[in-house]
Amino acid sequence: MAQFQPQQFIAGQVRDIPRSGIREFFDIVQTMPDVISLGVGEPDFVTPWHIREAAIYALERGKTSYTSNLGLLKLRQAISGYVEKRFGVPYDPAKQILVTVGVSEALDIALRAVVNPGDEVLYHEPCYVSYSPSITMAHGVAVPVSCQAEHGFALTAEALEKAVTPRAKVVVLNFPTNPTGGTMTRAELLKIADVLLRHNLLVITDEIYAELTFEGEHISIASLPGMRERTIFLHGFSKAYAMTGFRIGYACGPAELIEAMMRIHQYSMLCASIISQEAALEAIQRGEPDTAEMREQYRLRRNFIVKAFDAMGLSCHRPRGSFYAFPCIKSTGLGSKEFAVKLLETERVACVPGSAFGPSGEGYLRCCFATALDQIQIATERIARFVGKLKKG
Ligand SMILES: Cc1ncc(COP(=O)(O)O)c(C=O)c1O
Repeated sequence: MAQFQPQQFIAGQVRDIPRSGIREFFDIVQTMPDVISLGVGEPDFVTPWHIREAAIYALERGKTSYTSNLGLLKLRQAISGYVEKRFGVPYDPAKQILVTVGVSEALDIALRAVVNPGDEVLYHEPCYVSYSPSITMAHGVAVPVSCQAEHGFALTAEALEKAVTPRAKVVVLNFPTNPTGGTMTRAELLKIADVLLRHNLLVITDEIYAELTFEGEHISIASLPGMRERTIFLHGFSKAYAMTGFRIGYACGPAELIEAMMRIHQYSMLCASIISQEAALEAIQRGEPDTAEMREQYRLRRNFIVKAFDAMGLSCHRPRGSFYAFPCIKSTGLGSKEFAVKLLETERVACVPGSAFGPSGEGYLRCCFATALDQIQIATERIARFVGKLKKG
């Protein structure tokens, strides 16, 4: 009888996926005392009380059942109103909106709904760690398009155009970007839209940091002429309302695509938690002042951290959105992983090596400023001491 070897049973497309560079790193951090973490990309704020209260109240009222697969109609109606007002894109709550378990699930099912084996999915890099593995798990071919600090980590139409082949089907966008804080102006997005239209490509846009835009208008590609019809718009509550633990997000798009995504969602997730949906309704209806307050705190921290990196001689793009700074550490002569590990060991500051966000992130460090200002102050002092010693030695 052949010996049972569990690894032989792992599907090929899963076997080749690396573990997230962030998690790997933070497993080490967990074991160390006295560490200041600028690592995990999650608000340091607790979910605003009235939103938590809505969840508690939902439980008190016995809201413990499944909901419609698409999500509570009252929540979809509120999402429809919000997305139209905030992004200028109207969606029909009856058939163009699906409530999901975070943007994570929305991205996964959007890709699975549209990608055939071998289809190419383009995305800008450095990017959120899940994009490439999610494309691979959907049997697609991940095609990164590199973004540069000198362009503010925006995606240029020229770079996108160069990467398009006849097998290209989908482009994933995320502005403001995790991990670079890159944003796009309307003029830049119009050029991207032109490429997408000429090559008949579908867009998946991940708008999770839209509300955390500090200056300039945030434009969603979905709002540009001819784009709503070819865009799956993903958004969620994790960042804007500090609701990561609620696991709640949504997808908006053409009815046919939302229906295809809903079929996957129906058989895998069934529906998002009703308690989280009730909380999300409160957030979207009355959470705007909380978001504004948190955004102001992030803005102050952004200003502080960028200045601190400049002062220590590490050039740092000034992010116009998100809560990430992405300083360049090339001048220290260390690779990004080596830099992050040594910084952690000698100064007890945890940041994520830029290489965790794809090869284009090499030479950079992601520092999340969703951490209290006094902690950021101590962390940057420690980083400055570390960099000073490297430059001397
Ligand atoms: C760009 C981006 N998209 C999606 C997610 C996941 O969001 P959610 O908590 O809604 O699943 C994150 C989380 O860090 C992110 O940075």
